[in-house]
Amino acid sequence: MRHMLIAIVDDVALNLKLLEHLVARLPGCQPVLFDQSAAGLDWCERNDPDLVIVDYMMPEPDGLAFAERFRALPGKSETPLLMITANTDLDLRYRALEAGINDFLNKPIDRTEFLARARNMLRLREAQKRLADRAAWLESEVSKATAEIAARELETIVRLARAAEFRDPETGAHIQRMANYSRLIAAQIGIGAREQEILLRAAPLHDVGKLGTPDSILLKPGKLTALEWEVMKQHATIGSEILRESASPVIQAGALIAWSHHEKFDGSGYPRGLRGEAIPLYGRIVAIADVFDALTSTRPYKRSWSVEEALAHMREQSGLHFDPALLDAFIRALPQALQIMAQFRDEDEAPLPARAASRTPTAPGRTNAAADDAVSRSLHRVLQ
Ligand SMILES: [Fe+2]
Ligand SMILES: [Fe+2]
Repeated sequence: MRHMLIAIVDDVALNLKLLEHLVARLPGCQPVLFDQSAAGLDWCERNDPDLVIVDYMMPEPDGLAFAERFRALPGKSETPLLMITANTDLDLRYRALEAGINDFLNKPIDRTEFLARARNMLRLREAQKRLADRAAWLESEVSKATAEIAARELETIVRLARAAEFRDPETGAHIQRMANYSRLIAAQIGIGAREQEILLRAAPLHDVGKLGTPDSILLKPGKLTALEWEVMKQHATIGSEILRESASPVIQAGALIAWSHHEKFDGSGYPRGLRGEAIPLYGRIVAIADVFDALTSTRPYKRSWSVEEALAHMREQSGLHFDPALLDAFIRALPQALQIMAQFRDEDEAPLPARAASRTPTAPGRTNAAADDAVSRSLHRVLQ
């Protein structure tokens, strides 16, 4: 048996002495004595006794009041409470049981009976503690396992987004920037932290549907024909089909975003031509983040625009392509957006083999006729 603390509360010094003596015969038990019940209660509030032995007849609080107040203390609902009484009145015993007393000892105290009852209660206490330890251990194991599953789920999502990236001239840094811009807008309009996190994780899935777009269209250097555009546009629906009906909140949000990130506020977007707030909020947010990043970064077929150029263009599109309130929120958070831009730079590395390496990027800031043409082509791609 582990070390046990036994509180003894009795206003008669002789009784305290006797009980102290008896408790000393129980192995591993340390008695703590109180001749005033209020002081005993006070101590119990700050300590965790394994057994409390309390007299009934005492100046206020008496044994009953003591039991009631003791039970109301935090963490004291299960601690064994033994009441000593000369009173054999049944009614008193019922009230004592109601007040939370677990067992009784009659005065005068019989040493054999006392030792047997005290041992039983301490065994009960031991079992309670083992159960509580086990429950706490199980709880910590469960929360560890849950965190591990959540981490793996996130990893799978990141890898899925990465798979889609390989199909597209967009870079990993684009995915990170647009996801962070999306969260920034969400934070700016007062969306809760948990939802912001979901959006951050789900936004990279917006173009997952490009896994289903043929190379001949995805990698075509020039303008797409009307028919090719129709095929290109299917990536929104394909993305939502890949992700839909998941039990994961992040993948659910991803499905919604894939389906709605090309909708436009005035109803001229695709695939459903939704208008205004009929477009899911996540979709309206991601549209701003995605286009802003596409405009301000270099792609194989275009130079990057300055932030001012990009915002000027996006302001013109307020209410047409973009939700005006969300665009305002984004512009208000521009200082943080610039931090995100600086934090996730494109690496200066050779494009992936699948990317159109033959096209030479135009240096940012340099404008010429060819570059302008590239820009208008790219705009067409990005904004459609
Ligand atoms: Fe897209
Ligand atoms: Fe994108």
